[in-house]
Amino acid sequence: MGAFFLRKFRILFFTFFVAGMPFIAWAAEMGSFSYHDFKKPSTCRGCHNTIYQEWNQSLMSQAYSHEWDQAEYFRLALPQAQKLKKVSGVKAGCIACHSPLAFLSGDIPPKTAARGTRANEGVSCEVCHHITGSSEKVPYNFSFNIKPGKTMQGPRKDAKPLGHRVEYSAFLRSPEFCATCHDEQSPYGAWVKSTYREWKAGPYAKEGTTCQDCHMYRAEGKAARMGKARKDIAHHVFHGSHDPAKVAGAVDVAMYVKKSTLSKGSVLRLRVELFNGKVGHYIPSGSTEERMLWLEVCAIDSKGRCYPIPVVKKGFKNEEYTIADPSKRAYQAMGEIMGIPGFAGISRDGQVPRGARIFRKPFFDPKGRMTICQWYTMNNTKVDYRIGPRETKIENYVWKVPTNIPEGELRIKARLFYSQIPSSVGKFLKLPEHEYAPILVNKAEAVITVK
Ligand code: HEC
Ligand code: HEC
Ligand code: HEC
Ligand code: HEC
Ligand code: HEC
Repeated sequence: MGAFFLRKFRILFFTFFVAGMPFIAWAAEMGSFSYHDFKKPSTCRGCHNTIYQEWNQSLMSQAYSHEWDQAEYFRLALPQAQKLKKVSGVKAGCIACHSPLAFLSGDIPPKTAARGTRANEGVSCEVCHHITGSSEKVPYNFSFNIKPGKTMQGPRKDAKPLGHRVEYSAFLRSPEFCATCHDEQSPYGAWVKSTYREWKAGPYAKEGTTCQDCHMYRAEGKAARMGKARKDIAHHVFHGSHDPAKVAGAVDVAMYVKKSTLSKGSVLRLRVELFNGKVGHYIPSGSTEERMLWLEVCAIDSKGRCYPIPVVKKGFKNEEYTIADPSKRAYQAMGEIMGIPGFAGISRDGQVPRGARIFRKPFFDPKGRMTICQWYTMNNTKVDYRIGPRETKIENYVWKVPTNIPEGELRIKARLFYSQIPSSVGKFLKLPEHEYAPILVNKAEAVITVK
């Protein structure tokens, strides 16, 4: 409340002294600008074609129009914001990060993506390149300060632009810049996104490896058609969990079996180790309410029959949420918002097979039910079983070899999968299948002989 008040005050103060230039203000306030204050990404394309193409393929350009975003905003968040006072702020809040120009122009709620308005520009070039800082010391919840005009915030001191000016910005190159949109607190005060805070507390921050280093890799080229050739141009790919190539191999999987031969009816013991050596924050991170990483272990006998092996429980608090159980139901809030009478929820774990370990951080609504409605989240600290940066998780398995198993080779397979959304939720909302299809992160195999 205090910070909000202060921001308002600063705007008044500033407009008072530069009357006649109302487009210069420092903080992101709803309706303080108009779409006309910002140029379309297509105007940058002529000179910055490579960067334009990368941005156009990235989720930044789809942050508003992307199917799942449209569904979540128009079918769940907006209807609930119109009914429940406590969450009424998300009507504008979602848009402040997903289509900052619509928010800044006061176009709330924006027209749907099908209408083709400028809201569809999502996180556009001029959003990022006009951000000058944050009103928060540790940024979150779209607390960016923005200053539209002819001057672009840029990463270099020796840039020679054409048709616009540039100002060197250390902020643009800092993880705090990303934090303005990548960390989020719900109206109930729960930290529902904390990628920046996870990074900050981990080893990469100490070593000085930034978000930009991993998500905007550098390669030789030119920043602009008529710019000079440079060895280290920042690419605008923003690959994350939507890119199977970024997710593949993100976690190492190793498997160890105690014995290489076993007799029928005896006990097989094995250990699977998962090492997060590539992700600068937890995996999963970001939209943690809907992301899952899970480990499937099975034994395949010499005739090709598959026996799933459940994980051994460790006994930590609320562990039940981290072991797949097809009988568990959740996500009742969706049915409530959609006005489905007597809605008892849908499968909590979707396509994850019984007994598989799930690496996740479940979110709970004010009624204590698991939810994918991140804005309607009261608590998400009951259990956090994700893999931190450079952390290793060890999972154990104990399996009684069936007495009727054929002799010969027994292949033990461990496969680590990732999905964006529980498949049960994806099917319920009729989202395209690629939104929730499992992505193979890694696998390991061991072969033993059954005698
Ligand atoms: C007429 C050509 C032209 C257009 C149009 C243009 N730029 Fe540039 N821009 C340049 C050139 C040339 C550079 C300098 C590149 C260099 O020094 O390597 C540059 C540099 C930049 C930089 C980097 C500054 C730095 O510190 O390295 C940013 C950011 C930028 N432009 C953003 C934009 C955006 C956003 C748009 C569209 C609204 C845009 N530009 C439109 C020509 C253009
Ligand atoms: C999500 C925010 C974001 C968006 C959207 C974005 N940029 Fe950038 N851009 C950055 C950051 C951050 C850097 C600096 C990275 C670094 O050097 O660490 C950068 C760097 C640049 C540079 C300088 C590259 C170099 O290494 O010299 C240019 C030019 C540029 N952006 C133009 C654009 C254009 C044109 C668009 C739209 C097609 C765009 N940007 C969209 C964040 C963004
Ligand atoms: C103005 C807000 C804003 C800023 C600033 C911003 N992002 Fe994002 N970013 C978003 C939104 C919104 C999405 C989600 C797009 C969608 O709807 O799926 C996103 C998506 C991403 C993704 C894709 C994740 C995936 O699931 O594949 C990556 C990676 C990413 N951002 C990295 C960065 C980095 C690195 C920076 C800083 C250099 C940054 N972002 C700055 C708003 C922002
Ligand atoms: C050491 C490299 C590294 C650093 C540093 C890093 N990331 Fe990532 N990030 C990755 C990898 C690899 C993935 C893909 C695996 C995954 O989805 O977790 C990823 C995934 C993501 C995702 C998608 C998460 C999900 O599960 O949907 C977002 C968003 C993201 N990063 C943003 C950021 C931001 C913001 C920062 C800085 C605060 C940052 N990253 C720092 C490597 C890094
Ligand atoms: C503080 C900025 C911020 C706010 C506020 C915000 N989001 Fe997001 N949203 C993001 C970022 C950043 C990501 C990308 C995280 C990732 O990839 O894991 C994201 C991801 C998403 C996704 C997942 C996209 C996917 O492909 O899986 C959906 C859906 C979404 N947001 C909808 C909403 C809705 C609806 C609201 C309002 C209730 C909202 N967001 C509020 C920043 C924000």
